[in-house]
Formats: sequence, structure tokens, C-alpha cells
Amino acid sequence: MILPAQSEWYKDAIIYQLHVRTFSDSNSDGVGDFRGLQQKLDYLEELGATAVWLLPFYPSPLRDDGYDIADYCAVHKSYGTLEDFKAFLTAAHERGLRVIIEMVLNHTSDQHPWFQESRSSRDNPKRNWYVWNDTDELYRDARIIFIDTELSNWAWDPVSKAYYWHRFFSHQPDLNFDNPEVREAIWQVMRFWLELGVDGFRLDAVPYLVERDGTSCENLPETHDIIREYRRRLDESFPGRMLLAEANQWPADVCAYFGHGDEFHMAFHFPLMPRMFMAVRLEDRKPIIEILQRTPEIPQNCQWSIFLRNHDELTLEMVTDVERDYMYDEYARDKSTRINLGIRRRLAPLIDNDRRRIELLNGMLMSLPGTPVIYYGDEIGMGDNIYLGDRNGVRTPMQWDGHWNAGFSEADPERLYAPIVSNPVYGYQAVNVDSQKRSEHSLLSWMKRLVQVRKSSQVFSRGTISFLDPPNHRVLAYVREYGNDRVLAVNNLSSTSQAVELNLRKYKGFIPIEMSGKTIFPRVGELPYLLTMGPYQFYWFRLRRI
Ligand code: BGC
Repeated sequence: MILPAQSEWYKDAIIYQLHVRTFSDSNSDGVGDFRGLQQKLDYLEELGATAVWLLPFYPSPLRDDGYDIADYCAVHKSYGTLEDFKAFLTAAHERGLRVIIEMVLNHTSDQHPWFQESRSSRDNPKRNWYVWNDTDELYRDARIIFIDTELSNWAWDPVSKAYYWHRFFSHQPDLNFDNPEVREAIWQVMRFWLELGVDGFRLDAVPYLVERDGTSCENLPETHDIIREYRRRLDESFPGRMLLAEANQWPADVCAYFGHGDEFHMAFHFPLMPRMFMAVRLEDRKPIIEILQRTPEIPQNCQWSIFLRNHDELTLEMVTDVERDYMYDEYARDKSTRINLGIRRRLAPLIDNDRRRIELLNGMLMSLPGTPVIYYGDEIGMGDNIYLGDRNGVRTPMQWDGHWNAGFSEADPERLYAPIVSNPVYGYQAVNVDSQKRSEHSLLSWMKRLVQVRKSSQVFSRGTISFLDPPNHRVLAYVREYGNDRVLAVNNLSSTSQAVELNLRKYKGFIPIEMSGKTIFPRVGELPYLLTMGPYQFYWFRLRRI
């Protein structure tokens, strides 16, 4: 079943990000699978998600949690079969849930047959599918991304006695996008999944597709040409499907990936994310306003995607050195929680399990411009396990209930792909879906209401934003407008109560109606509008001319 091509559905989406392996294990082998995920679709629907983004589920040696793909057109056997995937897709579509999958096109695993052929000899027909060189001298201006593990972007291949290029782990050789055969092969992969009915792709690591000596090898015009060509083919054969860019870059460079509305439909706003955490810690709105004011307008048919946390470290690539030091000092005192240029923690532990800050950050996630992404488990305040290596600490099994293996799997606990979080604060007996469903006041119940309110008006998903400039800098206030709909959002970024005077002269005569309780507030008059706010409190008011 293919969902009807509803125009710009991605703008109004609530995306839930998950890895099949972490979610639910149906065959008791300790690893989540598509059948298990299918059984949990009710949960996603109840939460209010309208799209699910799946992390890579393809055959892979799993040395980078599946971002090292060994076969693009199949399912890793631990997660089920292609038939299981199809059944899941149909079940998701029957509920109107869209499915976004990963297209890791910059590189493959070194176990991919393409690479095995390419390395087998210098005159193999697939030699030119990867980026080979006799020395490691070329492209010296390209930075190293995984600075904790890699010393160079070149690796020596003892088989064919040459160097190959890799922007990530050395077991992930980069494909050569100058080769038309590679470009075509990747399109055929996309076609394969599009024909099955997937609604969109997150294109992994797009800035790095093409290399040119003397440049940073990022965001090159040739890379944009390739994307434009994929988009043209997508629109031609699969209208209504969506491309989402993972380009961890400054706003102006990311904006280039929207092109003239002819490249990506969506792109993650990487620089905004750390600044939300920074603003809450500094108790000052400046970082958020500054970065959004530096963000150029995007074409009408495009949309930002915003997030608080994801499966990677909380990346600090898009902040200044001073800001990075500040973030490390405030959010990662324990040095073992730092990795590459970032912090490998989940949302709740980052902010010391403070429910008020969890709510405030989610309030901003749902009211700032863009489509929000919820990382699985953050809606119940799951913790992490910093003793697991790499970024695996934020990828532990979903905590469904207080029983055996948190309801994730019936396997022996030793067999699970990763241990369940079990400490007294974040452990599955304290933090799980089942117990939170029983309470109206749990984080989960609160998140459901928040999502409902967000979905009650397209002003959040499609509206413009204008910031107010109250003298109290601890308060971040903005008005979103879409057609005749207006919402005023006011966020107290501070740990103490605050009073704020808002200049709402433009809305004189309007009545603010607080959206979660539908409470009517005093009419806006001539004088500055006075609000008092508790620590980390936020309000959403619909401004009605009654
Ligand atoms: C993914 C990472 C992955 C890397 C290399 C990133 O963009 O989000 O999880 O390690 O690409 O594929």
C-alpha cells in the first residue's frame, strides 16, 4: 500500500526516530525486529507520531551500527526479512504513518561486494567505484570527522596496495560519485525502496559526496548537482516522496541544500540544537535568537527538521570554540561522556532528569519553526549507559514495562544486543511506558498532550516566526503566524520565577487563550503585557480577536 501523495506532508509531520534493533524483539533472540516493531505501532500512533524514521536496517557487519552497509537491498537477518519489512510498511501505512528510511550513500562497508571487487585488482571494472590513490597526499584540506578514532582520511589497502578515501571509519570506504555508474547504482537502490512504498529518505552525510583537491571536500557544487539530479528523478517517478538532508553545517551551507526548492525537501537544523541547551544553561535567549536570525529564508516548499537528541553524540561541531568549552563544562564534566566533538548522552541525563527542563526543551522543539523529531525513549525520559563504548550508550533497549528485560525481549538478559538500563534513577523499573501510561501526570502523558496541541494548528508547522524583544533576557518569546492563526509562545529559560513585559501593541484588543487548558487571559491593551512565570515554565497562547 502506497500512501496518497499528500502535498508537503513532511511539513506537518511529527517524526519518531528509532532503530529496529532497539525497539521490540518478537523472536526472543535478544535483538529487536520488524515483527516486534509492527506490534508497537499502536504506541507510536497514541503518542501522535505521524512518521517514523528508521536507522539503517540493512545487512552489515555492524561496526558503525548499520551505517556500514554491505547490501543496500535487503534486511539484516537479525531484524527479519524483506517480507517482514513489507508487512511493517503496509501496517504503518494503514494507520497513515509515513516511513522514512536511511540512504547511506557516501560510503559502504568494506564488506560490500562492490568494495571487495574494487580492491581485488587495479583493473577490476569496479576499481573506479571508490576513491583510490597511490599516496595519502591528496585532499589534505579535508578535516577528519571521527577524530577520536581516525588519524587520516586515507587508509592503506594491503590487497591492491593503494590508499582508499574514507570520511568516517576506515572500514567505511567512500564511493566515488564522479563515476556515473556509482550515481546510477545509488539511484537504483533508492528506486528499489521507493517502489516498495517508502515515503522518504534521510540522506546520510551528504556534504562529503565529492572530493576536489585544494578544497575542504565539503558542500562542493558537484555534490549539489548530484542531489539535484536525484531530486529530479524522484519528482518525475515518485511525486510526494521526501528527501531529508543530514548536513551538519552552518545555516548558510545547509540552506544551499534546499537549492531553489529543487534539492532537499528538508534538512536538519544542526546549529540550533546545541544552542537550545546553551540558552537554558545560560538562562539567556541570545544563542537561539542569534542562530535563527542568521538562518536564511528557505524556499516555500522546504522545511527545517529540528531535534533535541538523536542516535549520535550531541554534536558541537557547529558552535565556536568558546561555546564548545562552555557546553563541555556545563553538560559533560565527566570526560568519558565526550566523544569526537560532542557529548554522548540522552536528553534526561543531560539535564539531570529535571522534568521542568525536559518539558521546556520539548516545548521549544514543538513551537520553533520546523518539523520535530522525537528520539525513541526520550518521551519517557529514558537514561543512557555511558559504560558502553562509542555512541551505544544512547541506543539501549526501549523500556516498555517493569518485567523481564523491560518487556523488550524474552531472551535471557545475557543475550540482549545491549544491556537494559537498570540503575535506580533511569532503570526500567522506574522509567517505562507501562507505568507512565497509568498516570495522567507522567512525562509520556504530558508529551502526548503537547503533541496534540501542536497538531491542533498548522501555525506551528507552517507559520512565520517573529521574536519579541522584552527587557528580561531570561525569557524567549515569539509569535508564530499562519493565515489568520497566531500563537504567542513564551519560554522562561531560567531556574527562578520571572516577570516579563511583552510589547504586544500589534495585537491590541486580542485575547490570549492558553492552549493546553484553554484558559482565557486578560485582553491585550495599550500597556506592555505582563506575565509572571515559574521556573522553566512556558506558555502557548492562541491570540484571538474576539
Ligand atoms: C550517522 C552516524 C554515522 C556516520 C557515518 C552519520 O551521519 O548519523 O551515526 O556513524 O554518519 O555513517
